[in-house]
Amino acid sequence: MQPSDIGLIGLAVMGENLALNMANHGFKVSVYNRTAERTRTLANGRAKGTTIQPTYDLKEFVASLAKPRRIFLMVQAGAPVDSVLAQLRPLLEAGDIVMDGGNSYYKDTERRTKEMEAAGFHYFGVGVSGGEAGALEGPCIMPGGSRAAYPLIEPILTAIAAKVSDGACVAYMGPGGAGHYVKMVHNGCEYAIMQLIAETYDVLRTAYGLGAVALADVFRRWNDGKLNSYLIEITAKVLAFVDPETKQPLVDLILDRAGQKGTGKWTSQDALDLGVTIPNIDAALWGRNISALKDERVHASTVLTGPRLPALPSDQAVLDTIEDALYTGIIISYAQAMAMLRAASHEYSYDLNLSEIARIWKGGCIIRSKLLDPIQAAFKRDPDLANLLVDSEFSGNLNQLQASVRSVVRQGIERGIPLPAFGASLAYFDSYRRAQLPVNLIQAQRDFFGAHTYQRIDRPGTFHTDWE
Ligand code: 6PG
Repeated sequence: MQPSDIGLIGLAVMGENLALNMANHGFKVSVYNRTAERTRTLANGRAKGTTIQPTYDLKEFVASLAKPRRIFLMVQAGAPVDSVLAQLRPLLEAGDIVMDGGNSYYKDTERRTKEMEAAGFHYFGVGVSGGEAGALEGPCIMPGGSRAAYPLIEPILTAIAAKVSDGACVAYMGPGGAGHYVKMVHNGCEYAIMQLIAETYDVLRTAYGLGAVALADVFRRWNDGKLNSYLIEITAKVLAFVDPETKQPLVDLILDRAGQKGTGKWTSQDALDLGVTIPNIDAALWGRNISALKDERVHASTVLTGPRLPALPSDQAVLDTIEDALYTGIIISYAQAMAMLRAASHEYSYDLNLSEIARIWKGGCIIRSKLLDPIQAAFKRDPDLANLLVDSEFSGNLNQLQASVRSVVRQGIERGIPLPAFGASLAYFDSYRRAQLPVNLIQAQRDFFGAHTYQRIDRPGTFHTDWE
């Protein structure tokens, strides 16, 4: 039998769709899943008549692959990846390649890369974004690992990736955990944008009394303009969806308690380690965390009060301001994500190409948007741009647009609508643009109680004062 071009382990919906995507691009794909039932269902269903080759034990799976073997893991991040690797290792030969396409923690990927390379294998941590549909139709793919071995996997990844006007949405990210790192920050940015959209929804419904149907229309129109993006597009669709049973907008029937699987939290944790400021992503995280305290919030709502103001009429000018504010918040979210990637690139020697990252994010992934075109251009103009906010094109725009965020945050304050991500956007903008921050006072306090010393603006050196 003709050996397979690639093998895929893990047939949950993402894995199954990726295997089908590979087969649709003419690759012969062996598949394996821990529970054989799933493999059988795929073989007798969607894989019928395709080049997908079902296998039912790992030995058979490995033996079915052309050498050097290329194996794509789509198993749950964490211990299951280590478990599969432990089972695979005795069956592999030097030079074989394993790719982990899950949302693995980049430090796990760094460790696994070392272990696998020490054993003579190539290992890639591959960020894959785009959800179920993306996996089937073309995801955005962020591979990291051995540069020398990348050509061995590049043709398959390029074939299955989403395509935009300037190429396939895949590029070699960097060594070790670079691919999973970029995917992690992508997810952090995804959290921030989703939080900004949710806050916008809250302002429109709470301050202006717009219902889901009217809001669907607003988001649909916004998606035709500068906010054009996957997340705005699906927001319009979500808001328009009517529950077939109750005939009410389904969104109104969904419990307001957000879940999370960890990538956003890792982004904030790593930003703290790097000393990088990503308040929009932090705000999105705590927005989800406080949402989880549903019972406490329900109780608090009977004890604590906020302003009670009647809904305002909304007109085109109001909607334009809110659109500008959301657009600005999203720019600031990307700015924070890019600044974090830049810092990580220096700290971890990833040598990331930020323009190329913006380019591949333009298709397939959850944060794809029209805005990534000028972001790509900004980092092309200056690959070591310290912050997107000071790019010549963005700075002029932001100087105009900031008023919209101030207006929305003011509304939130006056009406008691919590806007953590909008507030964070504004505080970040105002902190970053200020040549002078009040931490001279903090330095003095630190020196007062702990002799931590300070520097002066009028002479060089390090100083300590006996303050009393
Ligand atoms: C993607 C998504 C995907 C996943 C998120 C969801 O890029 O395709 O980011 O990886 O849906 O990790 O994350 P939470 O469950 O933490 O919201």
